[in-house]
Parts: sequence; C-alpha cells; structure tokens
Amino acid sequence: MSYRTHWAYEVQQSLIDHTITVAGWVQRRRDHGGLLFVDVRDRTGLVQVVADPKNPMFRVLDSVRPEFVVSITGTVQPRPQGMVNLEIASGAVELVPSLVSVLAESKTPPFMPQEAETVDELVRLKYRYLDLRRPSLFHNFELRDRVLYSLRSFFHDHGFLDVETPALARSTPEGARDFLVPSRVQPGQFYALPQSPQIFKQLLMVAGFERYYQIAKVFRDEDLRADRQPEFTQIDVEMSFVDREEILSLMEALMKQIFRDALNVHLEDFPRMTYADAMRQYGSDKPDLRAGEPLVDLTELAHQSEWSVLAEAPHTVGVLCRQYAPSRKALDDWTQFAKQLGMGGLVWLTKSETGIRCSAAKWLDQSFLQHIERATGLHVGDTLFLVSGEAPQAFTMAGQLRLEFSRRENRIEPGWRFLWVTEFPLFEWSEEEGRLTSAHHPFTMPMMEDHSLVEEAPTRVRSEAYDVVLNGIELASGSLRIYRPDLQAKIFSVLGLSDAEIQEKFGFLLQAFQYGAPPHGGIAFGLDRIVMLMAGAKSLREVIAFPKTARGTDPLMDAPSTVDSSQLLELGIQVQPRQSGH
Ligand code: AMO
Repeated sequence: MSYRTHWAYEVQQSLIDHTITVAGWVQRRRDHGGLLFVDVRDRTGLVQVVADPKNPMFRVLDSVRPEFVVSITGTVQPRPQGMVNLEIASGAVELVPSLVSVLAESKTPPFMPQEAETVDELVRLKYRYLDLRRPSLFHNFELRDRVLYSLRSFFHDHGFLDVETPALARSTPEGARDFLVPSRVQPGQFYALPQSPQIFKQLLMVAGFERYYQIAKVFRDEDLRADRQPEFTQIDVEMSFVDREEILSLMEALMKQIFRDALNVHLEDFPRMTYADAMRQYGSDKPDLRAGEPLVDLTELAHQSEWSVLAEAPHTVGVLCRQYAPSRKALDDWTQFAKQLGMGGLVWLTKSETGIRCSAAKWLDQSFLQHIERATGLHVGDTLFLVSGEAPQAFTMAGQLRLEFSRRENRIEPGWRFLWVTEFPLFEWSEEEGRLTSAHHPFTMPMMEDHSLVEEAPTRVRSEAYDVVLNGIELASGSLRIYRPDLQAKIFSVLGLSDAEIQEKFGFLLQAFQYGAPPHGGIAFGLDRIVMLMAGAKSLREVIAFPKTARGTDPLMDAPSTVDSSQLLELGIQVQPRQSGH
C-alpha cells in the first residue's frame, strides 16, 4: 500500500467518490459537536478529513495532534453547502477516512508553522525545519529551484560549461575578511574559503575553456545586513574573446529568461547609466528607479545666491517631492531626518496657489526662488528640499532623502526596474586603510581612454566594470579583465603592493598570463538576492534554507562552536583569549 496516491492540491471535485490516499502533517484538529475535522498538510496544500463518531476510524483520527505525520485513505465527497473554502485548491471537497495511519507522532511544537511569522527569529532558526513547513517559505524554495533550472538551461544552450572550482583555496581579493581553514598536514598553514571563484575562472580562460559558469557557494566574513549573508551563492560567469557589449547583452538575456520562466514576467530592455550620472542624478551607485524623479543639481544657481550658505556650498542638490504638502510636523521630521544623515539643516520650498513658501525666505528673495522653481519644474502642490555640501556627500544625502520620502509616503511604484551601471572608478581611496584600493577588484581593466591616468591621477581612472541593479539593490558585478601581465603588475603597484607581495599573492596569476591569456571578462550575480527580490522577501534569510543570524551564528546546529582540544592539538592551534579592543 502506498503512503500517498494524490497530492493535496489534486484533491478536487473531479475525484468525488474516488478512494484516494493523502499523506502529510496534521495542521489542525477540530471537534465540532462530535464531528471531527482534521486538516492534513503536504507541500502543495491542505486536505480536510472529516469523520463522525460512527466512522470506524474516528478513534484513531481523534488521537492525532498537530504536526503528527499521517497517511489517510478515504473517499472524496463534496463539502456541504456553505462549507466550501475557495481559498484552497481542495476547498470544495473533503475526505471521509477508511484508514488512518499515524506514521510519526510529534511533541507539541514550540510554535505552529502557520503562526511562525509572529515568533522570535532566533527560535524560528533553532527549529528551522518547523519554520520551513510554512507554505510561504516553501514557495520561495520552489521559486529558487525554477530560477536555477532556467539559468542552467540558458547557460547550457549558450555553450557555457559548468565547472566546479575549489572551496579550499587561497585568499581572493574581494575586499571582505576570509574564513580560514587550518591545514592538518601542513601545520601552521591555512586555506581560505573563496570569497569568489574569481582567480580560478580567469585561469579557466587562460586554459581555453572560453565560456564558464558555476553556481558557486562563496564565503565572506563581513558585517551582516538583510541583503548579506556570510555564505551565499553566486551565479559566476566568465567568457573569452568578448567585448563589454557582448557580455552585457548576453547577461541581460539571461535575466529576461529567468524572469520569464520563473515568474512569467517579461522584462523591458535594461537602461544604462554611467556611475558618474548615477551619483549625480540619484546620489547612489544603485539607483532605485521606482522611487520618484532624479535629483536636480542646483549648484550653479546656488552660487548666484546672495545667501552665503548656498553661495559658498560646493554643491547644492534638489530633491523634488511631487504633490506633497507637508504639515509643520512633517517638515520638522524631515529636518530631524536630515540631521541624522549628517546635514546641518534642511532648506525646503513649497509651492501653493498663493506662491512659494521657503524655510530660508529671510535670506532668499522671491526672484531667486522663482529661478529655482523654473530650474526644477516645481508645480503647485510640490515640495522641494535643498541639500548643500561637498561631493559626493551632498548627492548621497539627497539620494537618501529621495528614497526615504518615497518610502514614508508609499510612493515606490511596483515593478522591476533593472539598470546597468557602467564606468565605475577603477580605484577608490580607503580612509580606513589610508591607501588606494580597487573599487571592484584588482583584475579589472581600466577604460582604454584612461590608461594614461593610471599612475598620475588614479582616482580619475574609469574602469570597464559594470553592475546590474534591480529596484535599488545590486544584483551583480562584473568587468572586463586585464590580460596583459605588464598592465596587471602596474595596477598592483599603484595599489601599493611591493614586488614581493605581488609575487606572493598573485605570482601564479601573472605567470599564467605569460602563457597566452585571451581577452576575457565576466560577472557574478548574487543568486540569493535575485530570489529574494523575485519572492518579494525582506531578507536573504527567507530564501536560504539554513541561514545565519545577524551575528553570523547558526542556532540550529549551534555553530560556530568550540572544538575538542585533541582536534586543536592535531592542527597545532592554541586558542588565545581575545585581546580587549579587538
Ligand atoms: P561582488 O563582490 O560584487 O563581485 O559579488 C557579486 C554579487 O554577489 C552578491 N553578494 C552577496 N550576496 C549575499 N551576501 C553577501 N554577503 C554578498 N556579497 C555579494 C551581490 C553582488 O553583486 N568576483 C566578482 C565578480 C566578477 O568580477 O565577475 C565578485 O564577486 O549580488
């Protein structure tokens, strides 16, 4: 006898009078004036089982409790009038049992899966297998599976090979801290878990594989946020003999295919924007195009003002809030918000039928306000905030204000607003480290036009790096790579690496480049982020089966954990108490 002949969602009117068997977990047991109702849940839905006291299975059915595992054979019958539940697939029918098998009992669970959303997340993660019984979570994994299936078929159809690269490797320069793994056979030496397969995929290009992809698990020891996990999955891609256009158009086709296959959404072509324009117009390198209009650069106009605050500010940026007439209290809240962002204060203008009101009316005359009105297209009913300061802060703060306004006022339009951001700077100055660092990674090609600036004005060099942004979240990053050893060595030296360090860290790569490296480039998408956005989830934890907490722990397995002293001894490792201040 089989445990199951039908899934819950298949139990519908077409099966009336059929004898079938369903299997799953007891979601609910109710006693209604002697009639017993038990909802059985499998991963596809619920089936209502009903028995009266005359039913020979009544006593067994009466003994089941929530989350017991059961297999129930019975006859499908229509539900009585008024009892039909249109919200579930099997809602027009019910099952009258002829055999009830209790396959496993369950202790009273710490929470019912259907109530999990109200439960503390630590408890949910400790009992993640119960949390995962929630259909809404399960659907995220079905979606993830559809995405993977679609993208594997895309890569296969376009001649990409799925090649696995090592997890026990050397540090790769993606900018986060490494997770280290001690070697037993080489005491005192460590592997680093890969922060990306970057170097391996480039070596595969030197090897002549031409088109590589991998659904790669990667590891980064960095501070966590809703869209960051210490281990996550990349859709990692590399191609040879391609220019930027070919990579962008193929990857755009990939995104279109997975959205079509997994969500039945047909995406428009992705707009393009340079990094410089993104910063100027949105104050961010990952603009959320759903959130209102771009910023307005009012610097030139501000410099003509007689009010020194505007006249002397290096930059003044306008945030236009259409059809928004804030109360006094709302304006105070915005000023407060501006202060939290680090602004000294906030200048606002509102336009009504009677004219323009301005928080700085004392210092700004009407004719100047009219210039601003014309420059920004301020209409009756609109409000404008002015943000002044240095670049890029004035732009980034204005960008945050723009986003926060759309969030608070529920102005974020629905939709999938993809975007390519290109021409990122090659280097950025790290205050923390007091030196130049790579904005993407050190293998990124400078733009041809800017090669001559590499040594004399490195921060002005633009790169062949590009990002995919969706609804204000970075989904992917990639670049054309340097494939000439001399240029690569020059970049390393601008980054302040000594010859010895270059040899030690990347000698093998430079050596490989001496044996015929083709022009190549690639990209990596964050798979978890893609699925998170597709699922409408707020955190990566909703699309990763066994995620880490915000503190990087796994409450289910209780990891990380201490290990046996014998294990440490074998590895030649002695654990020191942590020094204060670290
Ligand atoms: P990058 O470091 O930008 O590029 O990573 C690529 C994409 O991975 C995702 N991502 C993350 N997702 C979840 N948790 C994290 N902690 C996390 N960090 C990054 C993002 C990001 O866009 N080797 C290069 C790619 C290349 O040049 O080909 C790289 O790893 O979606």
